Amino acid sequence: METVVSGIRSTGMLHLGNYFGALRNFTKMQHDAKCFFFIADYHSLTTHPDPTILHGNVKNILSEYLAAGLDPEAATIYVQSDVPQVAELSLLLSMHAYVGELERTTSFKDKIRKQPQNVNAGLLCYPVLMAADILLHRADKVPVGKDQEQHLEMTRVFARRFNSIYGVEFFPESQPYNFGQELVKIPGLDGSGKMGKSEGNGIFLSESDASIRKKVMRAVSDSGPTEPNQPMSEPIANLFTLLKVVSSPDTVEYFTDKYNACEIRYGDLKKQLAEDIIATVAPIRERIEEIKSNDKYLHDVVMAGAERARASADETIRAVREIMGIKKF
Ligand code: TYM
Repeated sequence: METVVSGIRSTGMLHLGNYFGALRNFTKMQHDAKCFFFIADYHSLTTHPDPTILHGNVKNILSEYLAAGLDPEAATIYVQSDVPQVAELSLLLSMHAYVGELERTTSFKDKIRKQPQNVNAGLLCYPVLMAADILLHRADKVPVGKDQEQHLEMTRVFARRFNSIYGVEFFPESQPYNFGQELVKIPGLDGSGKMGKSEGNGIFLSESDASIRKKVMRAVSDSGPTEPNQPMSEPIANLFTLLKVVSSPDTVEYFTDKYNACEIRYGDLKKQLAEDIIATVAPIRERIEEIKSNDKYLHDVVMAGAERARASADETIRAVREIMGIKKF
């Protein structure tokens, strides 16, 4: 049986990018594979969150996971910091990760630009910790969005290097996964770039219908096509990307034809898009509050998950220690 691992940082709330990039794909796989899904609270520490809000963030994300369809009976759902073996594997893998390659990582270079006052070693080693998350369970597949592709590439480099240095076939070459399709990048509503937690361009799984309508109606567009089959500008292509993930193929075809015939009214497109987003989000939102208020259930889910995750992690760590020559007296 294949092993699947994925995770989400415990920063802010989940948005449509997280849902269509990772979470939904994972929920589709949870009954057919050995699945681990976790909340990456160690990773979130790289941006120094206020300690008084860290736990609340973890609780929010956990409630949102469950509301979005993760099934604790089928998948192992856990909090990263409940499984200390991940820190050990990260340390061990870091002995074969080169500072030069870490410095060249796109996400690291982005962070240097965004938070020049806080370029900490945790940020530099972020891809190593992520590789440890994945290799801890020797994952075959990792459902993620396009933005994580480079981190997955690095995970495979670390796995191959480990195997080759120690002359073993221990770690698999974990593949990013989206059902044989391209990994997706869900755009934001601001006309360029991807939907993000802190970009102010997102729609959240906990968002109200009224707020979704308002955001979508205000999404950046352009002045409309002036000739048939004109290539789309980035803001319009982004609206169509969103339409493709939430609407039926007929709806997409209808608006594409209208665009190509220069007959499109962006107001109509946005109204339809807003309603189709609401149809995705509303049932999840309704479950979030209910789940969040059930502390006993949340406690039971993470306790059971941590236990299963630690058992799997323990097997890997024992083997890695042995391969690297760490022995007990
Ligand atoms: P994070 O928390 O930024 O995002 C979680 C998941 O959501 C996907 N995602 C998107 N997909 C498509 N379009 C978007 N606009 C979009 N925004 C976010 C991300 O690709 C990701 O799959 N480093 C990771 C968390 C992590 C992890 C792991 C993931 C830590 N260890 C091990 C997989 C395996 C992160 O920061 O994702």
